[in-house]
Amino acid sequence: MKIAVSGKGGVGKTTFAALLIRHLDATGKHVLAIDADPDANLAAAIGIPDADRIVPIAEMKELIFERTEAKPGSIGGFFKLNPKVDDLPEALSARLNQIKLMRLGGVPKGGSGCICPESTLLRALITHVVLSRDEVVVMDMEAGIEHLGRATAKAVDKLIVVVEPGRRSIDTAAHIKRLAGEIGLNQIAVVGNKIRGDSDRAFLQKHLADFDILGFLPYDSQLIEADLAGRAPYDTDAPAKAALTAIIDRLG
Ligand SMILES: Nc1ncnc2c1ncn2[C@@H]1O[C@H](COP(=O)(O)OP(=O)(O)OP(=O)(O)O)[C@@H](O)[C@H]1O
Ligand SMILES: [Mg+2]
Repeated sequence: MKIAVSGKGGVGKTTFAALLIRHLDATGKHVLAIDADPDANLAAAIGIPDADRIVPIAEMKELIFERTEAKPGSIGGFFKLNPKVDDLPEALSARLNQIKLMRLGGVPKGGSGCICPESTLLRALITHVVLSRDEVVVMDMEAGIEHLGRATAKAVDKLIVVVEPGRRSIDTAAHIKRLAGEIGLNQIAVVGNKIRGDSDRAFLQKHLADFDILGFLPYDSQLIEADLAGRAPYDTDAPAKAALTAIIDRLG
């Protein structure tokens, strides 16, 4: 199963992805977690020790040059567009239990259509991970889906858009749905997060009538406390954890 998680900034993508990953791990699944958000730290939310020290792949210059055969310091030179990447999940993942995690990091955005060795390697890696891995793959993404292209979109079993009760997160969800449709990704569902009660739930149901709603997670101060204390949400007895089970059951 291949799952991508997206949504507006701060809605709880990383929290949800980390809870999902730990839950799947606890039920015996092998999970490959992909942190595709340069500003996030999925590893810390999962509870991987020394998460801060994981070097993002985009910063592994030697690896990038070796695999793409690009010449360091040369801009616009030739390099391989299909670098070898299939050994990287084993070689470079940080681990906890049966979870493997890869942190992609950020690639400086050039003009549109810019292709550089870094982005080529990351794209090849994502394509490999989505199309060729046997594990459950969970990708924590930014507020867009720019890591996915037409080829990979078809292999994504579910794009989960996390929303919170608020207009902007609903607008972002609609935007993501449009972008996903453009690349042929129609397996979209939403998870409502930070739900304070029935009216929040009703608000989201009303404004997300076009979406398959997988379920809701309560507003949960224990998650904030865990975040402040640098503890993984899954290593608490936060009520949101209990609500997760129903959502995962619906994922199939
Ligand atoms: N259900 C919840 N109840 C209360 N707080 C929550 C809940 N879910 C997440 N949070 C808190 O909201 C903040 C943002 O969560 P998180 O980092 O998971 O969001 P994100 O969408 O990944 O953000 P970003 O866009 O910055 O990557 C964190 O402080 C987190 O603890
Ligand atoms: Mg995040």
